[in-house]
Amino acid sequence: MSLAGLRVVVSAGPTYEDLDPVRFLGNRSSGKMGFAIAAAAARRGAETVLVAGPVHLPTPEGVARIDVRSAAQMHAVVLDALPADVYVGAAAVADFTPENIATSKIKKIPGEAALVLRLVRTPDILADVARDARRPRVVLGFAAETDDVAAYARGKLDAKRVDMIAANRVGQAGSGFESDDNALSVYWRRDDGTVGERTLGPAPKVALADALLDLVEERLPA
Ligand code: PMT
Repeated sequence: MSLAGLRVVVSAGPTYEDLDPVRFLGNRSSGKMGFAIAAAAARRGAETVLVAGPVHLPTPEGVARIDVRSAAQMHAVVLDALPADVYVGAAAVADFTPENIATSKIKKIPGEAALVLRLVRTPDILADVARDARRPRVVLGFAAETDDVAAYARGKLDAKRVDMIAANRVGQAGSGFESDDNALSVYWRRDDGTVGERTLGPAPKVALADALLDLVEERLPA
């Protein structure tokens, strides 16, 4: 299979939302899933841009990598990387970020047993890519869920107006965050309005990346 001549943008890893100079809100994403997809896209000949949150992974061969930290930075860099033929949103982007970043380390207040943090919504990168004037021909989002995986994934297909959603279960060993393996349920909207579905894995993320790109290639208009 080939993606020669096409431009693919992939997001991977977590975002870190700073609270103060020493603390942040983050998540357990290792970047393995997104890095595997970027590596597979480059092997298939695509000009591949990988927008990576803070991870400890080497850059795959043939991939142009841009490192970011926060959801706001990832949003700016991904939108800047358009136009593209394919966008794959494999990053675990924070949904909320502290309203203010303290300039000095937040201190315990004597006598106060609790600290209240006010969080505000981050921009939705996937939805903004899907509604951009330079919208890629295929926009593929992920859905990380602990329960009701299929229902939430199908909901995101419409809510974010994406072409495909790859859903994975998180919060258990052998899939989702950090693991070398994963299992994906992929959904896409057919021309007649019905929803296509394919189960991939359980398998190593490296193998799933190729299987996922096979499905992407099927969705690429000739
Ligand atoms: O990195 P690994 O350790 O290999 O783990 C892989 C993974 C579990 C992180 C990956 O397979 C995965 O599921 N990525 C998406 C995680 C996630 O944030 O899912 P979500 O259901 O919260 O978000 C849905 C989609 O919207 C995702 O494509 C996400 O990138 C995107 N999103 C979410 C919030 C936001 N502000 N902007 C976004 O673009």
